Amino acid sequence: MSDNLTLPAQQGSADAGSPSTETLLKVEGLTKHFPIYGGFPIRRKVGAVQAVDGVDLSVGVGESVGLVGESGCGKSTTGRLITRLLEPTAGRITYAGQDITHASRRELAPVRSEIQMIFQDPYSSLNPRQTVGTIIKSPMEVNGIDPAGGREKRVRELLELVGLNPEHYNRFPHEFSGGQRQRIGVARALALNPKLIIADEPVSALDVSIQAQVVNLLQKVQDELGIAFVFIAHDLAIVRHFSQRIAVMYLGKVVEVGDRDSIYNRPRHPYTHALLSAVPEVEIDGEDDGRERIRLSGDVPSPIQPPSGCRFRTRCWKAQDKCATEEPPLVQLSGNRGGHLTACHFPEDPTTEDRGEDIVLDPALAALEDDATQ
Ligand SMILES: Nc1ncnc2c1ncn2[C@@H]1O[C@H](COP(=O)(O)OP(=O)(O)OP(=O)(O)O)[C@@H](O)[C@H]1O
Ligand code: SF4
Ligand SMILES: [Mg+2]
Repeated sequence: MSDNLTLPAQQGSADAGSPSTETLLKVEGLTKHFPIYGGFPIRRKVGAVQAVDGVDLSVGVGESVGLVGESGCGKSTTGRLITRLLEPTAGRITYAGQDITHASRRELAPVRSEIQMIFQDPYSSLNPRQTVGTIIKSPMEVNGIDPAGGREKRVRELLELVGLNPEHYNRFPHEFSGGQRQRIGVARALALNPKLIIADEPVSALDVSIQAQVVNLLQKVQDELGIAFVFIAHDLAIVRHFSQRIAVMYLGKVVEVGDRDSIYNRPRHPYTHALLSAVPEVEIDGEDDGRERIRLSGDVPSPIQPPSGCRFRTRCWKAQDKCATEEPPLVQLSGNRGGHLTACHFPEDPTTEDRGEDIVLDPALAALEDDATQ
């Protein structure tokens, strides 16, 4: 870590949703509204896409936090704000004790090398005209880093670390499979010895059979190098084995956050229940896992005009009048462990075990199923 960055003292347990280790990254009220322009002949702002709207999140040193939610809920925008590829509309980003929310390019320079991103698509994120060696070396060149033994030696070490043949230094991306290309992306992200990696759906473009290998590689990287991760994913299955804490996002907001076991075993937010019910479980001795299956009807509402009050209310089976008028705060509910926060006026029971019946939210699907069984 650079000399000018100091780590803050450990956050107290009263600090909601904070990690159990020293805090590396703290995001408070992070907001990104993309303006929409219209009108003729004078173009003016006619609205805004509320992509991220007041997200609070902490990541500890060496910790992995999963950020999960449906398409369009603002996961990538959150990742891009943290890496400062996007300028926040409001809120604060503190990295290693330093406020980097609106830091200039120069102020950001030492931090930039410590926060790296791995992208979803290993095809488009690698320049097809550059060799693997050039691709992995370029962050060192841009940042003027000269490792002992030279950059080429370091690249070969990195190739080995990510499970690729160091002799493939002069090959081009098209000579590699999807999984191997993502390994190249991981090697590039590691080139500057980062402290934090934002992995934006790093395996969702890969064949299912390859996904586990790449997740295992990232796990190894996290364990051996002590790198903190924000692991962005659509579903809870992928982050389950990788993340110590999980934050669930819906339409620009974090609706539930907590440590992994608490989120999986005692989810309180209806949306987390719905996401969990979609996670496939391995059947043991042919027995069903006994979990309810919840099908969410309809699409995520538009972030241009999100629903009033609780944004999930248009799809929630527990919604009441209060949900339309009062936005539920993200708080620790009684019965939940410290750090497990939920934003819901009428949360689910702390356990799923005593609720046997399926909740079917989509009447059209239910009718089809009924027809099929008759
Ligand atoms: N540059 C932009 N200008 C306008 N709207 C944008 C921009 N980038 C993202 N959005 C909108 O912001 C919302 C959140 O997008 P984002 O890409 O962060 O979602 P996501 O959770 O990563 O989705 P996915 O799972 O599909 O990757 C979406 O409605 C998207 O259309
Ligand atoms: S606040 Fe209301 S609408 Fe929102 S999740 Fe809770 S019960 Fe559902
Ligand atoms: Mg995305």
